[in-house]
Amino acid sequence: MNRTELARTAQAMVAAGKGILAADESTGTIRKRLAAIQVESTEEHRRTYRELLFTTPGAAEFINGVILYDETIRQKTAEGIPFPDCLAKQGIIPGIKVDAGAKALAGFPGETITEGLDGLRERLIEYRKLGARFAKWRAVIDIAPGIPTPFGIHANAHALARYAALCQENDIVPIVEPEVLMDGDHSIERCEEVTDATLGAVFRQLHEHRIYLEGMVLKPNMVISGKKAANRAPPEAVAEATVRCLKRHVPPAVPGIAFLSGGQSPTEATQHLSLINRLGPLPWALTFSYGRALQDTALKAWSGRPAGFSAGQQEFHRRARLNGLATTGRYTPDMEAQAA
Ligand code: 13P
Repeated sequence: MNRTELARTAQAMVAAGKGILAADESTGTIRKRLAAIQVESTEEHRRTYRELLFTTPGAAEFINGVILYDETIRQKTAEGIPFPDCLAKQGIIPGIKVDAGAKALAGFPGETITEGLDGLRERLIEYRKLGARFAKWRAVIDIAPGIPTPFGIHANAHALARYAALCQENDIVPIVEPEVLMDGDHSIERCEEVTDATLGAVFRQLHEHRIYLEGMVLKPNMVISGKKAANRAPPEAVAEATVRCLKRHVPPAVPGIAFLSGGQSPTEATQHLSLINRLGPLPWALTFSYGRALQDTALKAWSGRPAGFSAGQQEFHRRARLNGLATTGRYTPDMEAQAA
């Protein structure tokens, strides 16, 4: 393990003014995203769409890392440049999703465990050769009556820590992502309780597994009301609860926290991040690692039409720029009305 390199990469991933693009949708997930714009999920459509994102002029000013998927890390631009090289040339660090998805946790109805540890060491060695300098593993914690159980949380925290240890052994920075879902009608208080238990378990396991905290990035959910909750907490309350919860669990040795968007609207996700960054000074950099909140408007503007390629890039650039401003608390909602 090269601690100097791990720490340097982790710090670069959370540099001020910039964030991470999560473009690591699995084949099943990207099929859904493309279906929503009436585009068939062929390999060439998936490749073209990723090329749109990765070659957006000026995006590197606001994006310093991209999470790729196994198919995507092996694909090339139309000109034949491998995607990892295309990103690295722009100063964007290539990363890779390495989990194999959340599967039913036997004996615990309604809960899941993320799979993908078997053979992970060998896959990490290959991904590093392909250019990956960080990885991502997502644990999913659902909130519903009777769940999550303490065991469900523990099992997921344990798997996350085993993944993180293997990454660091291979000089790859682990993004540790325990996602408490915002599906359902639960209150912000319930989300805080579950996020509190989850982050507690995750950092206990990271400690037990001897993880080098300076060489990792945490990717948590924000503490937020369920999507279907009757009275959803206002943005200021989301920011305060999120920071309070993180302060209780995340040691200052961790260089940065890059939030997932988790089904928040693009504007909500940007506003929340900006408000969170106004609650500083805080011991870690707080940035974004958004999938849907960075891509939804770009995907619609493109809609699979060659004529929509540049409109899609403009939309991606716009959300990247606004989220970049949010990393230093300088975003305000009135900026949405301004031109791209
Ligand atoms: P969202 O921002 O769409 O939640 O995706 C981020 C991600 O990487 C989820 O694993």
